[in-house]
Amino acid sequence: MIECLGKSDTARWRSDRAKDNMPLELRSMGRRSMTFSASRPIVVFGCGGHGRVIADILGSGGVDVAGFLDDNPPGPIVDGVPVIGDHGRLSEPEFLAQHAIIIGVGETELRRRLALEVLGHGGILAVAVHPRATIGGQVSLGAGTVVMAGAVINIGCRIGRFAVVNTGVNVDHDCILNDGVHISPGCHLAGAVICDIDACVGTGAAVIPGVRIGARAIIGAGATVITDVPPDVIAVGCPARVKKQLAPLSESGRR
Ligand SMILES: CC(C)(COP(=O)(O)OP(=O)(O)OC[C@H]1O[C@@H](n2cnc3c(N)ncnc32)[C@H](O)[C@@H]1OP(=O)(O)O)[C@@H](O)C(=O)NCCC(=O)NCCS
Repeated sequence: MIECLGKSDTARWRSDRAKDNMPLELRSMGRRSMTFSASRPIVVFGCGGHGRVIADILGSGGVDVAGFLDDNPPGPIVDGVPVIGDHGRLSEPEFLAQHAIIIGVGETELRRRLALEVLGHGGILAVAVHPRATIGGQVSLGAGTVVMAGAVINIGCRIGRFAVVNTGVNVDHDCILNDGVHISPGCHLAGAVICDIDACVGTGAAVIPGVRIGARAIIGAGATVITDVPPDVIAVGCPARVKKQLAPLSESGRR
């Protein structure tokens, strides 16, 4: 499992990737952007806004979504896709053996817990890339990661598992986004930016080259990040400054 990658961690990344759900990873060779799916039917967990966008991405790429899973769906069918179960499905070996799952939950801690639950029960996570996203050469995307419409990920970027590169995001060359990172709509990450696990960059933020954003840090919408940000803080403004220290995570992964 990739917990954290730094500039000197390339070798570890390579060996971890070799063990880690490799068949479901998309390795771009400079091809045009594409929607990638597992050979199994894909199920999206969560039929709120985030999950519906993911189902729409898959549909745009010509992939039928087999169904949504949700504990509290608004109805039996959402956007024409049937709701075929709830959270319980994620621990059913038979169900997991027949489907690939994407966790369609925007909230980072919950998305991580659910994704690890799927993997822990032997399931697999699919990757979804909108057909109008642009993926450069030598880019790798981890299992369960979603790249939305209009996103551009340039050459040499390494994106971990169950990350989200949201609508219209630019991720320039050689960035490293670790597992669970969420780059919100309209952000600009310059080259060689590192986001540690579960960092969340708010809508429309800009990050200058080479900056490192710490694990679980939250960058406020519209911020301009010009220096490294420590883990477990909220940083806001232009230039971004730490506004709040977040409580440490408990052993269960909750704050
Ligand atoms: C940064 C953020 C997480 C803070 O949320 P919060 O902890 O609930 O903070 P509050 O709203 O209580 O605000 C705390 C302080 O930060 C300031 N603040 C909050 N967000 C800010 C922002 N984006 N830029 C500048 N200042 C901000 C508030 O004005 C307030 O300042 P004060 O204490 O001087 O009055 C939130 O405002 C934000 O920007 N989230 C981004 C969400 C997003 O883009 N999601 C995309 C999902 S796809």
